[in-house]
Amino acid sequence: MSNDGVNAGWRRFLVAATSVVGAAGAVGAAVPFVGSWFPSAKAKAAGAPVKVNVSKIEPGQQMIVEWRGQPVFIVRRTEEILRNLKSLEARLSDPSSENSDQPAYARNEVRSIKPEILLLVGLCTHLGCSPTFRPEVAPVDLGKDWVGGYFCPCHGSHYDLAGRVYKSQPAPLNLPVPPHSYETDDVIVIGLDQENG
Ligand code: FES
Repeated sequence: MSNDGVNAGWRRFLVAATSVVGAAGAVGAAVPFVGSWFPSAKAKAAGAPVKVNVSKIEPGQQMIVEWRGQPVFIVRRTEEILRNLKSLEARLSDPSSENSDQPAYARNEVRSIKPEILLLVGLCTHLGCSPTFRPEVAPVDLGKDWVGGYFCPCHGSHYDLAGRVYKSQPAPLNLPVPPHSYETDDVIVIGLDQENG
């Protein structure tokens, strides 16, 4: 039964990834950097780093790219989102990410190099479904205390907008932060560690 859930989650991710490729193709001429979102199959097989230009991500929005066959979520967080993170700690399972997976340079209270830019490996730490981005505040289905985060459709795990899992969820740990570094202010290299990290 849980396998069905995982497969459903992967199907959703694959559909989403296909949509992004389609969109990239459609606007590629107008937005040249889009082509760099996806490496060649050969580069992916080798686990090559992936360069991403994040300048077009609107505040409060997410971009999904593929790295080593996995979805990577990239979110531009607002001041309000960052403020809300602080208020959630008592409700989280591993608020300081002591047991979770992130590079040393992202083991801080916002789990990122720049506070406003969040990167996460988009696979639930329960059984690997791809959680859904739910940035809204107090949507009917997630309740009045919801201040934005991720919801895993397979077995209902909830995460905040730093990828930190709430208490008493099927998922045991926070979403991992992939190794990454900044080539310029707007270009992130996923898979290449920040120096002196
Ligand atoms: S895979 Fe089970 S809650 Fe996400």
